[in-house]
Amino acid sequence: TTRPVVFSGMQPSSDSLHLGNYLGALLNWVALQDDYDPVYCVVDLHAITVQQDPAALRENVRRTAAQYLASGIDLDRSTLFVQSHVPEHTQLAWVLGTMTGFGEAGRMTQFKDKSAKQGSENTTVGLFTYPVLMAADILLYGTELVPVGDDQRQHLELTRDLAGRFNSRYGETLVVPEALIPKESARIYDLQEPTAKMSKSAASEAGLVKLMDDPALTAKKFRSAVTDAEREIRHDPATKPGISNLLDIYAAISGLSIPALETQYAGRGYGDLKKDLADVVVDRIAPIRARTLELLDDPAELDRLLAIGADKASERAERMLRTVYDRVGF
Ligand code: ADP
Ligand code: NA
Repeated sequence: TTRPVVFSGMQPSSDSLHLGNYLGALLNWVALQDDYDPVYCVVDLHAITVQQDPAALRENVRRTAAQYLASGIDLDRSTLFVQSHVPEHTQLAWVLGTMTGFGEAGRMTQFKDKSAKQGSENTTVGLFTYPVLMAADILLYGTELVPVGDDQRQHLELTRDLAGRFNSRYGETLVVPEALIPKESARIYDLQEPTAKMSKSAASEAGLVKLMDDPALTAKKFRSAVTDAEREIRHDPATKPGISNLLDIYAAISGLSIPALETQYAGRGYGDLKKDLADVVVDRIAPIRARTLELLDDPAELDRLLAIGADKASERAERMLRTVYDRVGF
């Protein structure tokens, strides 16, 4: 294939993706399959930088992969696999770690923030070298483009620096990746606290719409969504964050524009909007949930799909690591 390689990782850190993940990231990942050669990795090695319960980790890895497959990640057009199934990630990370400055790694703001919260006795070397493993993830596949949010920008810069450093020391080997700035994508807020980003870390799940919720619960969450004391259905995030968030979700799923929705709901009540939106959301996510449950109910089939991904990823990763080892003198 001659399509540019895009790499993206997903954390296996919860039992269900939420509507923010789906509309803000996953839909875009599905769309990338049309024009790119995407490599999508469930980053379980990264996940253990936070202490995990082994059974929960194993289950969450499978649930995460199943939800991506159920949402439209297609194994014919994408490489979807679990990071720990491909040992080259840690092997390349070691080589890159020997080329990373201690001070350079210490300047990563995510490390500084997390280690400041934990204190130095509780901060692990794994947390410190996390960005080096991320660089290995990206560089193993000849990645040209990496979709990154602001929080990962500094890590991508480090990845670029390491690739350039390797190439100048050992000769052109690694592709220096660029950031892929996604087309404007939806930013979804909590239904109960519509000024806070919808997040798995929310204190309460009442405003968190999960792909794996049953349809009745999804409908209830929309019925109880926080709005305002007016009666007008109008998009105005500053003064009407709740209604604006509902309209944004509606627009992202239906493809209708905000003005078209405002016209459609002129003179109608908030209850109508909430009920219709619940239907639209359930129509979209119920089949994803059903397919996910089907995959989880058939462990042999899910194993087979993950093995296809691991084989595809390994073939590419082995080739790159062999070249790297050769250059280094192994
Ligand atoms: P969370 O915030 O729930 O911890 P993550 O940080 O694991 O979610 O994000 C995974 C992906 O989903 C990222 O690409 C992120 O940009 C996207 N994402 C997460 N929450 C939202 C949201 N509320 N709206 C839009 N995109 C989101
Ligand atoms: Na997060």
